[in-house]
Amino acid sequence: MKGIQLKSAAQIAKLREANLVVMQVLDVLAAAAAPGVSTWELDQLAAKHLKHLRAEPAFLGYRGYPAVLCASVNNTIVHGIPRKDIVLKDGDILSLDFGAFKDGWCGDSARTLEIGRVSPQAHALVAATRESLEKALEQCVVGRRLGDVSWAVQSHVEARGFSVVRQFAGHGIGRHMHEPPQVPNYGEAGKGPRLSPGMVLAVEPMVNQGGPDVVIEEDGWTAVTKDGSLSAHFEHSVAITENGPMVLSRA
Ligand code: MF3
Ligand code: CO
Repeated sequence: MKGIQLKSAAQIAKLREANLVVMQVLDVLAAAAAPGVSTWELDQLAAKHLKHLRAEPAFLGYRGYPAVLCASVNNTIVHGIPRKDIVLKDGDILSLDFGAFKDGWCGDSARTLEIGRVSPQAHALVAATRESLEKALEQCVVGRRLGDVSWAVQSHVEARGFSVVRQFAGHGIGRHMHEPPQVPNYGEAGKGPRLSPGMVLAVEPMVNQGGPDVVIEEDGWTAVTKDGSLSAHFEHSVAITENGPMVLSRA
């Protein structure tokens, strides 16, 4: 396995372009997601918009994944395959994960949406997950270590009584969607490789309301919480630069 590939400023600019495509598609999906809409319709919308932006899907065909979008409702953690019979309803939480290639460079981002009015518990889970990603991004600074990023997620989440999923992790990103290093959502501060300019990471906390355990469904993809509790997911691609963290997948 090759090591961590550092990116030049020009390459980071390409990754920015790819991530802006991802952001725009997620914005369109977020505006469309509402009670009565199926996750299949969101997948169709994502594919259509991607074409419009002259980019290619990163997930379709990846290890045989059958859609352009991952749409994970309620107790589904990640990798929910869009389906006509999964129809959103008031009170759901919906995690949308989307990736795209633009000019050979990959963008990857995820967010959890609240559909209509959700329970206070669901809202707290979504907020804690979003905040844990912000804490992690703050650690994406030259001289910090990868463990500082992981610990930022874990400490924020566990202080609020939630648990981080250990079976999946974030990752380096560049010409490939998944590059070294793995970016776990748990770990020890001060440990792991030092962060250096030109590293680009996809940081993606997956957080369960109950325990951390995961079950993969019959389709080989859909990852659900073992205890049936809710789960949330946020992801940004971030470049480590001399001027601090450059979040590539938001405005
Ligand atoms: N954001 C996810 C990841 O980084 C998306 C992968 S879905 C897959 O692993 F279908 F492409 F595997
Ligand atoms: Co990712």
